[in-house]
Amino acid sequence: MNKILVTGGCGYIGTHTIVDLIQNGYEVISIDNNSKSNPAILAGVEKIVGKKIINYPVDLCDFESTRSVFKNNEDIVGVIHFAAFKAVGESVQQPLTYFENNITSLVNILKCCELFSINHFVFSSSCTVYGDPDSIPVTENSPIKPATSPYGYTKQVGENIIQQTVKSNNIQSILLRYFNPVGAHPSIEIGEVPLGKPANLVPAITQTAIGKIAQMHVFGTDYPTRDGSCVRDYIHVCDIAHAHTLALNYLIEKRNQSNCEVFNLGSGNGYTVLELIKSFEKVNNISLNYTISGRRSGDVVGIFANNEKATEVLKWTPKYSLEDMMTTAWKWELKLKENNHFLSKQI
Ligand code: WQD
Repeated sequence: MNKILVTGGCGYIGTHTIVDLIQNGYEVISIDNNSKSNPAILAGVEKIVGKKIINYPVDLCDFESTRSVFKNNEDIVGVIHFAAFKAVGESVQQPLTYFENNITSLVNILKCCELFSINHFVFSSSCTVYGDPDSIPVTENSPIKPATSPYGYTKQVGENIIQQTVKSNNIQSILLRYFNPVGAHPSIEIGEVPLGKPANLVPAITQTAIGKIAQMHVFGTDYPTRDGSCVRDYIHVCDIAHAHTLALNYLIEKRNQSNCEVFNLGSGNGYTVLELIKSFEKVNNISLNYTISGRRSGDVVGIFANNEKATEVLKWTPKYSLEDMMTTAWKWELKLKENNHFLSKQI
């Protein structure tokens, strides 16, 4: 079996991707220092796949510790690099922390790939790199506009570092630009575990519905959209996960056309915040307590993907509906509430 190293393997997308990789015949190990995640989540992964998952609790900013993981696993054939700080608001408060962590970890991982001749590299990027697009949907060739946050800037810089690096070595890379990953694995054994008060919309919805948050805020309904609230492209986390397996297959089978290819991972549908709330209420038969507030700084009016390149080239076909996203997100929130669920204790 081909062995893959997943960095950030205890994270939301990392855990779902480990499940998909194993179910598609890969062997997987993880590096995650659990600064933003709870290693206990791996119990859910192991329950789904029926295998033990090894996680190395190593800080990727420590080159020697990172190198030792590669030294002890010389049969790694590919790397998927998720590990990064990703809270937009926090990045505005702590830009240097974000630059240091997200860039240093990427450089160290790339140095290890070079050292150990690992030539298949998939990078977790984000639609944030497009900034505030002039026209939507965006394709992979849409202009890269100024980042709207230090977090988004680290993704733009990360993409550029990879594009420059692969010109001087044999690494074949893919940059996957996620739109808005939401939902949970249908087994409800794994899902998103936000740290503290959630910044993202769907965890804010589910935590309001379950009573962790008294009332959620809709950040602005005075935008030039069909109902005044912002438009986003919500995509089920399992669809995002499977795209990583397809991207690795594409590289390992040498089907790639260049040493750095970019793909949008979105559903291709744009929904407003109010439409998402209405969908959640309808499929779960819940009335959500929310209020309309002012705009959130840094928000773009609207963005959603043209995902034709990923569907045509990677043969990626998103299979989860908006209703699936809303039902699995809610079932996972209910699971976390179960008395004494090991993950409900904040780390
Ligand atoms: C979506 C919409 C909010 C919370 C960010 C990152 C992106 C990716 C996904 C990492 C916006 C509104 C939200 C709330 C609200 N992360 N909202 N009330 O900002 O599109 O994208 O997360 O890769 O890179 O930029 O996602 O879920 O925070 O917001 O009204 O309590 O929901 O204003 O319009 P966003 P989000």
